[in-house]
Amino acid sequence: MEITVYLSIVFLVLYLVSLGIHRRNFLRDKRRMCDESRDGARVISQVEDLSPGSVKKFWIICQKYRVDGFLVNERGNFHAYVNRCRHMPTPLDFIRDQFVSADGKYLMCYTHGALYEFATGLCVDGPCKGQALYRLPVRVDRGEILVGCPEGDLSYLKE
Ligand code: FES
Repeated sequence: MEITVYLSIVFLVLYLVSLGIHRRNFLRDKRRMCDESRDGARVISQVEDLSPGSVKKFWIICQKYRVDGFLVNERGNFHAYVNRCRHMPTPLDFIRDQFVSADGKYLMCYTHGALYEFATGLCVDGPCKGQALYRLPVRVDRGEILVGCPEGDLSYLKE
């Protein structure tokens, strides 16, 4: 009996400590997001640093969510998406740190091979065919690429 109570207290303390660490990190990232933002969007890259076909990972804070995303330069057009496959909630670059198919024509999820269009995020082949990546708004200002948060209910970001 005593050992059960003791273990329960230990697990409760560990849980509260992990909650505290998570909260502290979130507030730290939120402050950093404020420092690196203009008009509510975070500066992700200089235009000249993201060549055509290249991808850059980033995170932003949207309401109460920390969102992992990626920014891609598709022949001079910049697109940003939440880095989460629509088949299962895993990052597209799971393990390999790659986002683009071997022929360079599509964004690719390396878990099961789903292919997405660069410009729309639409899944055109694979188990999520017909669904689209969650888009994040992008704008270019003074030679910098900024990514903001979508409007409205963002509860889908907590998945
Ligand atoms: S998790 Fe992306 S295709 Fe299955």
